[in-house]
Amino acid sequence: MARASVRLLALALLPALAAAQTVYYPKGQVIMGGQGNSQPTTTTTATTGAVTFTGAAAYNPTTLSAPAAPTGLTTQFTVPLFQGGMTNMSIPIPSNFMGFSIEMSVFNQYRPSLLNIPFLNLVANVAARAGSMQIRVGGNSQETAELVGSIANGNGSIISKDLQNVFNHNTPPIMYTADLFYLMNNISNLVPIAWYMGIPFFNVTPVDFNLAVHAEQILGNRLIALQSGNEPDLYAQGGRNHRPVGYAPQNYSDEIGSMISQAQSSGMPRQNDIWLVGSVSTANTDPLFSPDAVWATGLVNTYLQQIHTMSVERYPNNNCAAVFNTGAPIVDPQSVLGSYLSHAATYALQQQYAASAGVAVGAGKPLVMFETNTASCNGFVGISDAFVGALWAVDWAMSLAAGNFSGVLFHFGGQSSFYNPFTPPPGNQTKFRQWTVGPVYYSTLVVAEALGKNNQSQVVDLFANGNNALTPAWAIYEAGTPKKVLLINYASDPSGASTITASIQIGGGSTGQAAANPGSVRVKRLTAPSVVAKGAFTWAGQTFGNAFESDGRPAGTPQVDTVQCDPNNGCAVQVPAGSLALVFLTNDAFAPEDATGSASAATFSTSTHAAQTLNTATIDLAVLATSNGHGNVNNLQYATSPGSRSGAVAARAVGPMLGAFVIGVAGLVLGIRRWM
Ligand SMILES: *[C@@H]1O[C@H](CO)[C@@H](O)[C@H](O)[C@H]1NC(C)=O
Ligand SMILES: *[C@@H]1O[C@H](CO)[C@@H](O)[C@H](O)[C@H]1NC(C)=O
Ligand SMILES: *[C@@H]1O[C@H](CO)[C@@H](O)[C@H](O)[C@H]1NC(C)=O
Ligand SMILES: *[C@@H]1O[C@H](CO)[C@@H](O)[C@H](O)[C@H]1NC(C)=O
Ligand SMILES: *[C@@H]1O[C@H](CO)[C@@H](O)[C@H](O)[C@H]1NC(C)=O
Ligand SMILES: *[C@@H]1O[C@H](CO)[C@@H](O)[C@H](O)[C@H]1NC(C)=O
Ligand SMILES: *[C@@H]1O[C@H](CO)[C@@H](O)[C@H](O)[C@H]1NC(C)=O
Repeated sequence: MARASVRLLALALLPALAAAQTVYYPKGQVIMGGQGNSQPTTTTTATTGAVTFTGAAAYNPTTLSAPAAPTGLTTQFTVPLFQGGMTNMSIPIPSNFMGFSIEMSVFNQYRPSLLNIPFLNLVANVAARAGSMQIRVGGNSQETAELVGSIANGNGSIISKDLQNVFNHNTPPIMYTADLFYLMNNISNLVPIAWYMGIPFFNVTPVDFNLAVHAEQILGNRLIALQSGNEPDLYAQGGRNHRPVGYAPQNYSDEIGSMISQAQSSGMPRQNDIWLVGSVSTANTDPLFSPDAVWATGLVNTYLQQIHTMSVERYPNNNCAAVFNTGAPIVDPQSVLGSYLSHAATYALQQQYAASAGVAVGAGKPLVMFETNTASCNGFVGISDAFVGALWAVDWAMSLAAGNFSGVLFHFGGQSSFYNPFTPPPGNQTKFRQWTVGPVYYSTLVVAEALGKNNQSQVVDLFANGNNALTPAWAIYEAGTPKKVLLINYASDPSGASTITASIQIGGGSTGQAAANPGSVRVKRLTAPSVVAKGAFTWAGQTFGNAFESDGRPAGTPQVDTVQCDPNNGCAVQVPAGSLALVFLTNDAFAPEDATGSASAATFSTSTHAAQTLNTATIDLAVLATSNGHGNVNNLQYATSPGSRSGAVAARAVGPMLGAFVIGVAGLVLGIRRWM
């Protein structure tokens, strides 16, 4: 009841947030560091509500043209499901499969802020569906991170960058205090989040274990694993120069071995089942330093006890030419739109990791796609920030699950990124603007619900509709019983002629088994006006609004369709063009919180005045641009371009324009009711 009154207060305050005000925002304020996230190439003036906004990529309203309607699409097909399981079914997938990756340099400073509350709501929504959530804190900035007692510039900072000493790859050295871990632990006291962290691996003679020791001591079993070596395949490349030319998988493997033996005298409480290794960013098409070449060193079996997780990192494309003006041809987003509306492309990418998955399953280790998103170097306008991004991210995540991955972490950029799952408002607009929830966030909810909460879901790609690239489908089994089916229709066709009807049949028909169809099934839908739409996304009838409209809680009445089934012919589920349907085949698959939508996960209200005056820690999504988001980049020359380096200075100048990511933990505990 107290929660209800808090919500009413929030509603009362909302109009004030929309007060007309013109804000001028520096173009591309986030340009430090690696080629991951940098200055957007376009500056656009957009109108959101009463506020005229000049600014950053995260709010760029540019839309692409939707593809033409397909011709000859088969719109009626059966989806036969077998009782007992199916060929090529995945291993059981952890429910917190789809998580987030955030650059270490973002846990930036303490300052009063309201913004922590939307963050907590957004992660709580996911955790409520998945049981828990996994977040990686790390990236290139971890390589030279250094624990200090306090940060000299004061103001309670827990992370600071030494911008005077930006070294190769434009990643500034990071200083942090142990409060970083206390902060993470405090977050986990509120929302069940488990963490990956990265330790510095730039210098391994000797390895600095300070971060490892503190992370283990403070986070305990909330620490999933420690990453050693981020993108070692790029260590010897121009622009990074962490290692001499010739640095090879065996060298990396030897260094892991050396680190593991050094760890014995480090004081780390947990010596076994702790290291995350691999983290290669290139495709298997790089024969010199591919994931397969790393596994071929025998690394995993040699250190089977000590290794916890095997990882890879990958983006399907990059926007680096535009971001860094490298002279390379700039990719026109319209020209690659089709590759994000094709299961054939997603499946082909996943297949590049088939051997890695085989090694992982054989060794009994989880394989995690540790950093990914639509495209490195900020993503593509009109794709990463449009509905196509949501459908693609679900396809990518489900394809990885079907391919025996055990996790996929979608990367966050700063204000200059198109692909953020969510973006806090630019710093000094926090009093009247709210958060922007992007398409990939909706995907996270969909995948969490598809996999459920019990870590038992097994996913199989059904190669549905004659393996049509526009209409992929997956079945989700638990203990041999089909529980859910996920259907995507990538087509663009406002006429309605490309609506597909998938007849889901359990047993019967071609299966040779007795038919075992349910009487009815429930269906949740992910929708938008078109695949290129930039707003009006809904998941099961609920939305987080358009740019600057979210406090992290879904709005709207939950909508779940019921489809009656035929005992022999199964359940005919329609999926309109440009949408996705999650079909719940059994009552127990449809958990209680699904019936009430996300209301039950709404935890923290932005209306709490108290939070505004508390000393809250914030994570700086702008600074997060330091280094990330470039996994598929083979030629790194542009990473060290003068433009990106001078950008670091510019970014410093606008340092206060920070999105806050979180967390007035103490205040929240006192002031805000939690959901139980
Ligand atoms: C199982 O996977 C293999 C290898 O990817 C593939 O060739 C085969 O067609 C799949 N079988 C089924 C029934 O999907
Ligand atoms: C995933 O691993 C299981 C268990 O080893 C295996 O049966 C299945 O074929 C694998 N799936 C793929 C796509 O490789
Ligand atoms: C500390 O915060 C104060 C007040 O916000 C600000 O004026 C000052 O510049 C900050 N100091 C540093 C070193 O950032
Ligand atoms: C973590 O929470 C404790 C207890 O509420 C509080 O005293 C401490 O300041 C918090 N630390 C950080 C870094 O948030
Ligand atoms: C890689 O390892 C080999 C064999 O130990 C060694 O000779 C070589 O110097 C190493 N190269 C680099 C770049 O570390
Ligand atoms: C926001 O910050 C910018 C740059 O520091 C400044 O010019 C502007 O006046 C500020 N706007 C508000 C509303 O405080
Ligand atoms: C699922 O796995 C997560 C992460 O290991 C764990 O925290 C959770 O308790 C598990 N859930 C169930 C129902 O076993």
